[in-house]
Amino acid sequence: MKTKIADLEFEPLIRAKAIEERIKEIGSQLNADYKHCVPVFVGVLNGSFLFIADLIKQMDIPCEITFTKLSSYYGGTKSSLKIRDDIDFSVDIKGREVLIIEDIVDTGNTAHYLIEKLKTMQPASIKLCSLLLKPKALLKKIDELKYVGFEIENEFVVGYGLDYKEMGRNLKDIYKRVK
Ligand code: IMP
Ligand code: MG
Repeated sequence: MKTKIADLEFEPLIRAKAIEERIKEIGSQLNADYKHCVPVFVGVLNGSFLFIADLIKQMDIPCEITFTKLSSYYGGTKSSLKIRDDIDFSVDIKGREVLIIEDIVDTGNTAHYLIEKLKTMQPASIKLCSLLLKPKALLKKIDELKYVGFEIENEFVVGYGLDYKEMGRNLKDIYKRVK
C-alpha cells in the first residue's frame, strides 16, 4: 500500500517481520564476535534509534551504549556531503572495542567522518554495523563496515527510524520513494 509523506509517495520495501528476523541474525553474530570483551556501541542518532533499541535487546553479552548525533541530509532526499556534528563524544573509548550503529550508509561520508574522529581516541578496534547499505551510492570504501542488514538500490527510503523532512520515522516497515 502506498503512503504519502509531505510531497512524496512511498511504497513498502522491507517489511517489519524481515527487519526483525535480520536483526536477530546480526545479534547472534555480534554475541559471538564480541564475547571476549565488553564492547561500546556508538549509536548514531536520529535515524538509527529504533535499530539500536531492537539490536541491543538481542545482546546477551555485557555491553555499553552511547550516542552521537550527526546529520547530513537537512530535510532533503540527497546527502549534502556536509556534516553537522551535534553531540560531542565524551565517553572514554581508549582501548575499547567500538561498534558504530548506523541506520544507513549512503555516500559513506558520515561513516568515514565518524570513524576518523573515533580513531583519534585510540580504541582497540572500530567496526560499523548498518541496517541498510546503498552500495551504488558509496563514494569511498569503508573497511570497518562489517555488518549490514540489507543492501538496497540507490533509492530514497523512510520508515523504521529513517525520515523525510523529519517524518516517517514511526513507520514499522521501510518504504521506498516512488514519486
Ligand atoms: P551518507 O553520509 O551519505 O552515507 O549518509 C548517511 C546519513 O544520511 C544516514 O545516516 C541517514 O541519516 C541519511 N540518509 C541516507 N540515505 C537516506 C535515505 O534513503 N533516507 C533517509 N535518510 C538517509
Ligand atoms: Mg544516520
